[in-house]
Amino acid sequence: MNSVGATKPCSALLLFGATGDLAKRMLLPSLFALHDDGLIAKNLRIVGTARSEMSDADYRAFASDALAEYLPDDRKNKDQIRSFLDRLLYQPLDASAIDGFGALADKLGDISGGLSIFLSTAPSLFKATIAGLQSAGLTGDNVRIGLEKPLGNDLESSSAINDAVAQAFTEEQTFRIDHYLGKETVQNLMALRFANMMFEPLWNSTGIDHIEITVSETVGLEGRHGFYDDTGALRDMVQNHMLQLLALTAMEAPANLDATCVRDEKVKVLRSLRPVVADEMVRGQYRDGAVKGAVVKGYADDLGQDSDTETFVAIKAHVDNWRWKGVPFYLRTGKRLAERRSEIVIQFKSVPHNIFAERGGKLHANKLVIRLQPEEYVRLQVMAKEPGLDRNGVILREVPLDLSLSQAFSKSLNRIAYERLLLDLIEGDPTLFVRRDEVEAQWRWVDAIRQVWTDNEMATKSYGSGSWGPSAAIALTERDGVSWHE
Ligand code: BG6
Repeated sequence: MNSVGATKPCSALLLFGATGDLAKRMLLPSLFALHDDGLIAKNLRIVGTARSEMSDADYRAFASDALAEYLPDDRKNKDQIRSFLDRLLYQPLDASAIDGFGALADKLGDISGGLSIFLSTAPSLFKATIAGLQSAGLTGDNVRIGLEKPLGNDLESSSAINDAVAQAFTEEQTFRIDHYLGKETVQNLMALRFANMMFEPLWNSTGIDHIEITVSETVGLEGRHGFYDDTGALRDMVQNHMLQLLALTAMEAPANLDATCVRDEKVKVLRSLRPVVADEMVRGQYRDGAVKGAVVKGYADDLGQDSDTETFVAIKAHVDNWRWKGVPFYLRTGKRLAERRSEIVIQFKSVPHNIFAERGGKLHANKLVIRLQPEEYVRLQVMAKEPGLDRNGVILREVPLDLSLSQAFSKSLNRIAYERLLLDLIEGDPTLFVRRDEVEAQWRWVDAIRQVWTDNEMATKSYGSGSWGPSAAIALTERDGVSWHE
């Protein structure tokens, strides 16, 4: 039998939420890409399940439509698509009723070669689903489970879900997904820091003044009304993606790349986060405006009712440990902002003494911009002397040292995050999945923030769609003499 822990491919994949938006846009196209590139075993069966009554043939037609819509044109190979669709099976299931799970197990057939489950379901169905899997013998040693967010909406509900999962699966069998960890550029952060000598000696409070992490989006609600309004930007983006980016930026070098070493280092950072005080954060909500030239409605109009849910949040965070003493981490994320952009900006300190000052030379401290999306690059701003005879003084200018990852690796396939994560789940490598102690440290910090909001009755501040958020977010950095990188 195939046991989990050692990375070993399984022979069946069970997809919950198989007719949902995530399946259509991400999971099916990703699985197809893995199939197309011969990265999953020929005998891997993929069984989809959801509430809708569908036959295998209906599901294949559904998947075929999804691939037609979401695959890039250069992936659309008819023969390959046909052979991929042949792998797909479908079993309708009402996950709230235990009796349907027997038929699901029958559909899966022999799972002695290992089973991976991808569970993306409403939080209210978690317990019932785990109990159902257990009753049908789908939770043994050779089964691993991938859990897609939302996994609760505070520490308590997240712990309840984790407890329910732990009844049936060990932590080693549990793969909590944060799709940001599947992004190539996010993994590249570790390469940048730990495969190069030049940054690490300065990567601390001696060399760095502050760090900014921005994840801005131009989209609004995208039809996810109920979910988003109950969640808000803090829980939708900061609790998971942004804290993972922060942890990867701030962590110590792991002993090696294995799951335990990497996650041990991340969790130390997450546990060192200082509780945030009221005047170090800003909640915002978009009103109408124009994004990329198109007129868009405000949040309340999108939602169809008034609400105080934040669609933007900016936070001045502090990591209370030796390395980061006195180095603020400014975080901001929001919907309907000026641009779609995820980036980490490392602002180094100034040189201790400007030898060019008497000749008029002005210096800017070095800045490292790590752009994760939509473009992928690392850009170091360095000072250089403008060529000339300097009769009127020395002119120094910032010049970018550019590493365009998309260009340097133009021949490599740019894979979407779920390709990587699904393959790791199928093969059983947990390094890029989030461990329970990390999730809990994330929630602890986020819950304390929400408590401060409640205690201080912190209302959202309005910002025009297409802007960079409420002016208070600008003031948050400006009063420290810092400007957001825009
Ligand atoms: C999801 C959030 O986790 O991440 C969405 O629920 C958000 O609200 C999305 O739009 C952003 O992901 P990406 O990969 O487009 O940056």
